[in-house]
Amino acid sequence: MSQHIIYSNQVDATLSAVIEGGNYHNVAVLVDQNTRQHVLPMLASSLEKAMVIEIPAGDEHKTLNSLISVWEALESCGATRQSLLVNLGGGMVTDLGGLAAATFKRGIACVNVPTTLLGAVDAAVGGKTGINFMGLKNEIGTFAPARHVIISTCFFSTLRHEDILSGYAEMLKHAILNSCHEFTALLDQDLNATDSDHLLERLKASVKLKEDIVNKDPTEQGLRKALNLGHTVGHALESHALETGSPVAHGYAVAWGLVVETVLSHMILGFPSDDLYALASFVKQNYGAPSVTCEHYDRLIALMRHDKKSAAGEINCTLLRQCGEPTINNKIDVDSLQSALDIMRDLLGV
Ligand code: GLY
Repeated sequence: MSQHIIYSNQVDATLSAVIEGGNYHNVAVLVDQNTRQHVLPMLASSLEKAMVIEIPAGDEHKTLNSLISVWEALESCGATRQSLLVNLGGGMVTDLGGLAAATFKRGIACVNVPTTLLGAVDAAVGGKTGINFMGLKNEIGTFAPARHVIISTCFFSTLRHEDILSGYAEMLKHAILNSCHEFTALLDQDLNATDSDHLLERLKASVKLKEDIVNKDPTEQGLRKALNLGHTVGHALESHALETGSPVAHGYAVAWGLVVETVLSHMILGFPSDDLYALASFVKQNYGAPSVTCEHYDRLIALMRHDKKSAAGEINCTLLRQCGEPTINNKIDVDSLQSALDIMRDLLGV
């Protein structure tokens, strides 16, 4: 997978160099209302001549209609195969913009400039693009890496604490997949007192872990499935929250999903209980608990059966023998899942 990741807090100058180096016919930049207002003005020099395409903010707008509006805007600004699309925003913008770029005229170049921690650590890196469809997250999409990803912490100062936590959940996932050392370092962090230099160092380590996995298995035939840890249950909790009119941030659902899947790891593979309790305590303290009761289990399980990772209606999860030792393609039976959801609710005090 050819994707060049650049860490820079001089984003305007870095993006200018990337644009000049690419010899593009013209440049368009995809933003949402928030990044248009707060971030685009910080890139006045590099994007001075770019055509601005705006879509509404929020995962509920990660839709076919928004995708069509981006195609239409690219068409009307005279974009060609040699045009560049800069995706300036969180995961919703980089996922949808990546799909727009991958499909417009069978594919034009794009550069991702993630503006959230969640986007920087996960969505903008690794080439997955997508939109939600028929109530399912990222149901339509491609593997199409952005040519460059420019990662900076300078945009994070305007993020809400909740947005930092949302990205931190993906960092926890990378860490627990990697080693006890990295996992413990993240759990020991006081998230109310994180300085941006320290965060950048941890972020680089986290992105590097993802890159290592993606480079070995870009299209998720095997190893990359490890990155789905926490997501079979997490996506179901997220979709369920959306359906019941109380949407939750993706990273919160992932944090709760990590707890459930670590409980399953303990039950099925003997994952150490001390590490499970340490994770659950951190999640309880920082993310609280999902609003689910046992009456919601049937719907959650139905959502898990529809997950892209599941085949023939079976529920499939990545689990862990211990920190740093994931196993992919574990089929989970409904009884075990219900028990794990019960235990998660006990651990998080629902
Ligand atoms: N978000 C998981 C992956 O990129 O594979």
